[in-house]
Amino acid sequence: MQRTLIKDANARTEPLDAILLQGWVRTRRDAKAFSFIELNDGSTLKGIQVVADATLPDYAHIQKAHTGASIEVRGKLVPSQGQGQKWEVVAASFTILGEADATYPLQKKGHTLEFLREIAHLRPRSNLFGAVFRVRSRLAFAVHQFFQAKHFCYVHTPIVTASDAEGAGDMFRVTTLDVGKPPRDEHGEVDSTKDFFGKKTFLTVSGQLEAEIFATALSNVYTFGPTFRAENSNTSRHAAEFWMIEPEMAFCDLYGDMELAEEFVKYLIRDAKEHCAADLEFFSKFVDKELMARLDFVLDKKFVRCSYTEAVEILTQSGKAWEHPVAWGSNLQAEHERFLTEEHFKCPVTLYNYPRAIKAFYMRKTDGCAPDRQTVAAMDLLVPGIGEIIGGSQREERLTELREGMALHHLDEKAYWWYLDLRRYGTVPHAGFGLGFERMLMFVTGVSNIRDVIPFARTPGTADF
Ligand code: 4AD
Ligand code: MG
Repeated sequence: MQRTLIKDANARTEPLDAILLQGWVRTRRDAKAFSFIELNDGSTLKGIQVVADATLPDYAHIQKAHTGASIEVRGKLVPSQGQGQKWEVVAASFTILGEADATYPLQKKGHTLEFLREIAHLRPRSNLFGAVFRVRSRLAFAVHQFFQAKHFCYVHTPIVTASDAEGAGDMFRVTTLDVGKPPRDEHGEVDSTKDFFGKKTFLTVSGQLEAEIFATALSNVYTFGPTFRAENSNTSRHAAEFWMIEPEMAFCDLYGDMELAEEFVKYLIRDAKEHCAADLEFFSKFVDKELMARLDFVLDKKFVRCSYTEAVEILTQSGKAWEHPVAWGSNLQAEHERFLTEEHFKCPVTLYNYPRAIKAFYMRKTDGCAPDRQTVAAMDLLVPGIGEIIGGSQREERLTELREGMALHHLDEKAYWWYLDLRRYGTVPHAGFGLGFERMLMFVTGVSNIRDVIPFARTPGTADF
């Protein structure tokens, strides 16, 4: 007999004479003549009630079906007598597949998120994490649907790379050399020519540069994969390993880039509302009461667009005492970004045209700027509660200006020879962005720590499981 998922059992319109369920016991309550088991198999938030009559031949086993045990139940699906559920299963036979004793850490009482992080091997069995990871799965699928429907080509960019895509240097080194006794060259430096790849290699910080190669051949492409940052930022929004979606479009400017970013974010929210309604309802009950109102608000609103220069004026005139002072040319900090989106505009905001000196080397230099106010066609999308969720730009397609940007950022042209070639042969205006998948999940679920929307968080000092 085929197993029925509890999601499908709950959704049935007709009873069933024979059903097979498999799952884990959430709770068991024994009455005189019956036991009631709440069974969950992770297919949906809401478990199903199994009723086991004390006259069952297997009834003695049921006493061993403690919270956390895995069981198999055969029986009938019948309308429930109890409150709060349409169906229940009257057991005919019952098998314990794997016992769990009283040391099982996920007992009924509520646990703190910090404690659940320490048991990341068991937390997917809780309501909250089951819901988070179902939404994560659904939205990963929706990412592909969104781009495939627009005929974007999915490109697998490398995870091990020799180039620093952001030119910022916070990369994890990949090596097979004996770190205690590495081979050295005549200057006493570690000899990377003896390393596995014959050169220094790293985990990628972004697939953008390789995506640009494909965009200048296939026009519209995207990557979706893990990226790595060795930044020592211990915040609730930074992980050392996170997933990023990076579309790249040839024949596109910053405006087209911002349009796509806004459409994409709204699409993902709409998809989650449509396909993960029960899970979102759970988040809005237990995680963030404002969640649904915020998501609806974001769907309805056209996002505000504001230049960096205007943003600096707003911030300096706000009368706020900033921890990090603001002046034209300085990087905006989380406190500034949150003020703009949460207090000033009260709406998602796309900031654009940032000072050239604080942005990456590949961003397109804005024409006609005053020399002391040189900007690039960069954009960051900020959302309430999180701040930056997307970073993107129009890329510098002009060889001379790109080389100038590289010199400004002290980058070695030799390392980027192939990137420069894209400007030598058939260059085109092009643009793209990166959406942090975990930040998007935080926004959609209301979960406030990035460690709780990724199955196994890698943050400074932590790489368990
Ligand atoms: O702004 P970032 O650094 O941009 C890039 O990497 C570009 N190459 C993207 C592109 O244009 N193709 O990162 C993009 C997004 C951020 O807006 C943020 O959502 C997320 O990636 N992000 C992180 N998420 C979690 N932990 C971190 N340490 C993150 N760093 C960036
Ligand atoms: Mg950024």
